[in-house]
Amino acid sequence: MVRVLIVDDDVSLRRVLEYNLQEEGYEVLTAGSGEEGMRLFDERSPALVVTDLKMPGMGGFQLLRQVKERSPETAVIVITAFGAVEAAVEAMKAGAYDFITKPFNREALKLTVRKALAMQGLTRENRRLKEELSEREAFRSIVGISRRMEEVFRIIDRVADTEATVLITGESGTGKELVARAIHGRSSRRDEPFVAINCAAIPRDLLESELFGHVKGAFTGAVKDKAGRFQQAEGGTLFLDEVGELPVELQSKLLRALQEREVQPLGGTTVQKLDVRVVAATNADLEEAIAEGRFREDLFYRLSVIPVHLPPLRERKEDVPLLVRHFTAKHGGGQVTFAPETLTVMEGYGWPGNVRELENTVERMLIMRNGDTITPEELSEKIRKGRQPQRECPVVNLPDEGYSLEQLEKEIVIEALERNNWNQSSAARFLRIPRHTLIYRMEKYAITTPERKK
Ligand SMILES: Nc1ncnc2c1ncn2[C@@H]1O[C@H](COP(=O)(O)OP(=O)(O)OP(=O)(O)O)[C@@H](O)[C@H]1O
Ligand SMILES: [Mg+2]
Repeated sequence: MVRVLIVDDDVSLRRVLEYNLQEEGYEVLTAGSGEEGMRLFDERSPALVVTDLKMPGMGGFQLLRQVKERSPETAVIVITAFGAVEAAVEAMKAGAYDFITKPFNREALKLTVRKALAMQGLTRENRRLKEELSEREAFRSIVGISRRMEEVFRIIDRVADTEATVLITGESGTGKELVARAIHGRSSRRDEPFVAINCAAIPRDLLESELFGHVKGAFTGAVKDKAGRFQQAEGGTLFLDEVGELPVELQSKLLRALQEREVQPLGGTTVQKLDVRVVAATNADLEEAIAEGRFREDLFYRLSVIPVHLPPLRERKEDVPLLVRHFTAKHGGGQVTFAPETLTVMEGYGWPGNVRELENTVERMLIMRNGDTITPEELSEKIRKGRQPQRECPVVNLPDEGYSLEQLEKEIVIEALERNNWNQSSAARFLRIPRHTLIYRMEKYAITTPERKK
């Protein structure tokens, strides 16, 4: 029930108001003074207040101000003497929703109260919508002015509201997930779920059930039917992150889901028709994975109907200052600026971790900063030294007459294995490649583990 508070020192007027509003179905609280009114307001939080302006002690104006201070959205209607237009105008300026004049007309009173409550509902709804929108905007705000990013924006705009499958490629931290969310947020599916699954993060033997769901009894522990991410994304978008890590067995099942628009839960005998748009991402070289037999070529073509490539940050340095400003604001550094020299140094750095590394750097610098202007001295030594050593090639001096890449690769693989005592997992980590890629290379170059290490 909607609760209304009436504050008036005139007892008979209070009764009339109370009676009329009760008749309308409101729960009515009454107070004979401003002080009592405020006390009731604090205790019972009414949705609407009707108050006389002239009262001994705390007057209607003061009450109006206090109510507005505590709860700006509460509607206040003031009662003024007939002809006291100035007071009414003052009250509206101070935040009153409307006024009624004494002696009042019952219907006018009821109408004014009804309108005030409806208005309040709208205000709330409006605020909720705005909040939701800004949350969505935050997801969507992909910053960039470089030509390469403009190109990306153009593709997003073009494809967002289609059913096309999109494959987003790019190094780690370049914004692949952000783009996937932007595509969803700009499609007509935006009010339906956006479901993400990281194919590299889920153990192989659980992945099938995670993706496609399972039926009760499909395996030990499957005590009831469970929906997969595909089913959860019904009507919306499924984001397949690190799709390059999907085991080959599941690739054919995914291909079928994409082509037939249906999935078969693990252990189930029937298929389910689904309406899901798929956006996939990878930071691996899928063409290489295809060449190595780890990724189905037909799936690759099915996924990359629309390819979107996010260039590494070092190839779009123009975006650095803008991103710095964006992250400064995002992490609460509204008053902070980065000196031009600081930005120049930051533009010269290689950012192997791309935008994510830049964001973390800005966030850390905001916490550690000395003042409101951030100077180059505050940058870490790694960034000040500029060039990223890992990105250059500090280890190899190529002879002038040229050298075979395959031979070089073979030597590097052997060296990495030697250094890691022929432990394949460590050597793969050392070379920053997945273990299966290392094994593939060892087979390719016929590198075998020496007897002494077996
Ligand atoms: N152009 C951009 N504008 C604003 N923020 C960005 C931009 N690109 C990336 N970011 C931010 O950088 C962080 C990393 O982005 P995201 O998670 O999308 O990268 P990713 O390519 O999916 O990385 P990974 O391959 O490691 O999963 C996020 O906080 C994201 O909001
Ligand atoms: Mg990601």
